[in-house]
Amino acid sequence: MNQASSNAELDRDFLWHPFTQMRDWNAAGQEPVVIVEGEGALLWDENGREFLDGNSSIWTNLHGHRRPEIDRAIIGQLGRIAHSSFLGLTNDLAPRLARELIEWLRLEGGFRVFLSDDGSTAVEAGLKMIFQARAQRGETHRTQFISLAQGYHGDTVGAMSAGHSEVFHRTYRPLLFETTEVMSPACYRCPFNRGTPERGVDARASRKCHWECIGQLESALDALGETASALVMEPRVQGAGGMAMHPEGYLARAAELCCERGVWLMLDEVLTGFGRTGEMFAFQKENVVPDVVALAKGMSGGYLPIAATVAAPEIFDAFLGDFSERKTFFHGHSYSGNQLGCAASLASLEIFKSEHTPAHLQSSAKTLAELSARFWDHPNVGDVRHEGMICAVEIVRDFATREAFPFTDRIGARICEAAKKSGLLTRPIGDVLVLMPPYCSTEPQLRKMVEALCGAIGEVLPV
Ligand SMILES: Cc1ncc(COP(=O)(O)O)c(C=O)c1O
Repeated sequence: MNQASSNAELDRDFLWHPFTQMRDWNAAGQEPVVIVEGEGALLWDENGREFLDGNSSIWTNLHGHRRPEIDRAIIGQLGRIAHSSFLGLTNDLAPRLARELIEWLRLEGGFRVFLSDDGSTAVEAGLKMIFQARAQRGETHRTQFISLAQGYHGDTVGAMSAGHSEVFHRTYRPLLFETTEVMSPACYRCPFNRGTPERGVDARASRKCHWECIGQLESALDALGETASALVMEPRVQGAGGMAMHPEGYLARAAELCCERGVWLMLDEVLTGFGRTGEMFAFQKENVVPDVVALAKGMSGGYLPIAATVAAPEIFDAFLGDFSERKTFFHGHSYSGNQLGCAASLASLEIFKSEHTPAHLQSSAKTLAELSARFWDHPNVGDVRHEGMICAVEIVRDFATREAFPFTDRIGARICEAAKKSGLLTRPIGDVLVLMPPYCSTEPQLRKMVEALCGAIGEVLPV
């Protein structure tokens, strides 16, 4: 019998963490932070150390930890039932949640909500729905998905196929189906951006280009012709692709190109959904009407795994038929429609009505943007970009050329490790530092997050 007893020892002996080099994790002298409590934007570890939750617990938390309304909703639901099957049954929460989601999405006219567990399953279900709908509509030639370079849609095989992350997906490539990759419209690293870096100016604002990204998308769609089925993309912000932010207007232009050609638009709002970009959903900033939307992460306010794939009527209708026709969507998950997740999600949506309204989110986002202007003071900060309650700080070796540090220098990871000592928890994407605070974060808390990260940059890269 293993004698380990502390949480850290048990973790080291029995667990395998996501996206973690376990040799480093288990290395002598590495003590994991063992989180035992949280409230609002704060987390505490088992030694009573306090931390700011700088990335909203991997981009999930919205209104803060231990939010009384959500706590009460879950506890109340536990007093009735935690979970019952959603196959051939329904319950008294999922239908209400579906109606609320459709209202918030402003996608009326027959859109349907398919419930699952997490971002990857929401995307996977969307891809399969689209594929099957095309076939059942007699459009068997429309099999091809188009997606953006550096896109990330989750870790299941379909979601990886639509993704294009060299680091995450390279090993699995032989397992994946082919999708057409088009360039990412991320201005900071765009080869067509002739604008030179200017301190204090977001690369989207200083860009000089001819919308080559849209030109490339148009060419790809034309080349695919009638074989093009759907464009799959993260609207406005590509999260795991380095918080790459798109110029205003790309989404609307892309949607128009798709619409003209009968190509469906599937938006992955797993990260951007539920207020993160300052509007309830990122696509609402550009007034587009998607055909499929994938939602997860913040859907339950960051409490429980629940996700939704929302599909347009022309997709849903393609599945209707006589039982013998086998047009059913043969896809599902054991915890679809889970009552605890639905209760948490409904309670979270209520909070948006009174407290974290778009006006409140935009005001918090403005504060975050103003505070984070000081990142520009460091010579190795190449870009500081914002979209709502997301702030990304890209660290470079050379400001003028945007040259990156070697991957093996682990600059981003080292900065975040240093920030931890000052009480800030966040996780970088390569050398892109991310601040994505819960919406309840106060001005002093936002200030502390920025200060901790600035201090950590200075510690790792002394001037
Ligand atoms: C845009 C996007 N889509 C999908 C996913 C996958 O979500 P999950 O980790 O819940 O499977 C993520 C996760 O980071 C994401 O950022």
